[in-house]
Amino acid sequence: MKIKNICCIGAGYVGGPTMSVIAQKNPGVNVTVVDLNEKRIAAWNDEDLDNLPIYEPGLADVVKEARGRNLFFSTEVDKAIAEAEMIFISVNTPTKTYGIGKGMAADLKYIELCARQIARVSTTDKIVVEKSTLPVRTAQALKNILDNTGNGVNYQILSNPEFLAEGTAIEDLHNPDRILIGGDMDSKEGRDAMQALVDVYAEWVPKEQILTTNVWSSELSKLTANAFLAQRVSSINAMSELCEKTGADVSEVAKAVGMDSRIGPKFLKASVGFGGSCFQKDILNLVYIAKSYGLNEVADYWEQVIIMNDHQKRRFAANIVKTLFNTVSGKKIALLGWAFKKDTNDTRESAAIYVADYLLNEQAEIVVYDPKVTEEQIYADLDYIGTRSEVENRKLLKVVRTPFLACENSHAIAVLTEWDEFKSLDWKKIYENMLKPAFIFDGRKLLDQKRMKEIGFEYYAIGN
Ligand code: UDX
Ligand code: ADP
Repeated sequence: MKIKNICCIGAGYVGGPTMSVIAQKNPGVNVTVVDLNEKRIAAWNDEDLDNLPIYEPGLADVVKEARGRNLFFSTEVDKAIAEAEMIFISVNTPTKTYGIGKGMAADLKYIELCARQIARVSTTDKIVVEKSTLPVRTAQALKNILDNTGNGVNYQILSNPEFLAEGTAIEDLHNPDRILIGGDMDSKEGRDAMQALVDVYAEWVPKEQILTTNVWSSELSKLTANAFLAQRVSSINAMSELCEKTGADVSEVAKAVGMDSRIGPKFLKASVGFGGSCFQKDILNLVYIAKSYGLNEVADYWEQVIIMNDHQKRRFAANIVKTLFNTVSGKKIALLGWAFKKDTNDTRESAAIYVADYLLNEQAEIVVYDPKVTEEQIYADLDYIGTRSEVENRKLLKVVRTPFLACENSHAIAVLTEWDEFKSLDWKKIYENMLKPAFIFDGRKLLDQKRMKEIGFEYYAIGN
């Protein structure tokens, strides 16, 4: 079966870039991305490509090429579902904040709503593709809803996890390490559905990099990949604390360890802690699933990755307080970076939020600069944590438009995101306009330690 019309429900960090690239590489297929959020869809349709709702290097060029040709963004969800033969579900699946599984299980309410909507609207057979990260066995739940509430049409459910990393999404989509497609391998309909999706990707991905598996393997592979990656970061972060005590330099350790071809050099960069929408959520999910099967040792093993990450964020902030003579009350501290990593405007689970919260509890005055994150988002993140009132957050934390303004008259600077532009700031001028002694806490090991010390800074980097 050749797919002619694709619908994607959810125009976020996953759905938006993924569908843009699918449309770019499949000019003969109409791809319609729908979302309930009218503001988001309007931004995707904005003439000015600088106003796209998410910042991703290279995304604007892809959208420019395909939008209006075979790529469409719309709020007409029912219409797009009805017309498509293949529907991707790419809605958010945050960690539950209430009830059973609170703080651990994924909240599937948005997925369930999508399934009910698809069941209500569909009058022709559909291939439904899970694109969000979902707990193992979600496909079964989707199938139950679709088969039992639908109009008697046939559904094939596929799992097609997304492995793109934000900040490099377009590059990752153009040159993926692998594409994973899980489906019902035991029936002809299942195999046909998988082949239809293989054909979409085969327009640009070499066939040997497209793996097909059963649904459960595919779903679990996504959680496993993220758990392994996060585990590497927590492992090196654990060593960073030991390095600080012993006089070893964590970058040197990481280099030496990473040159072992069995270990490899990637994901060994010590940091103030990993963030992003996936790592924590997926591991919590894994922990929850393991616990629900009574596998307590498995659950505890993976939970430790999160415990280490929380510790890293806390100890980074605590070290600032300790170094600034045990008090930051009334002191101005500049935070450079708010996004959870460079080249994205996404702030979900960003370490910056937790560091800011800790320092605000110590009554510091915080000034934030981030090149891509809006002031509105920064306040929304703090308000969401709920430690202080909205009024207090706006009083104690300010957002400015240049790094220089953030650092001027401050006691200390904390580098929280590894934006390239921070490397080439006029650090001498910044130093001259700070209170003395002037401290830098480099949570990304981004700056040249020797140079910073020569300028006069008291320089502390994570892991040495
Ligand atoms: C991750 C997975 O990489 C991706 O495959 C999956 O689809 C979604 O989750 P993402 O969260 O976008 O992607 O970014 P990633 O590059 O994995 O970084 C996650 C966090 O780990 C960031 O906060 C990053 O700064 C941190 N990190 C990463 C480190 O602290 N050190 C490293 O060496 C690597
Ligand atoms: P991700 O990083 O997984 O892409 P986002 O939060 O960036 O997550 O995007 C998910 C999008 O899905 C949001 O824009 C949200 O408005 C949209 N969404 C959630 N539920 C529905 C639904 N039932 N119909 C349409 N869009 C939805």
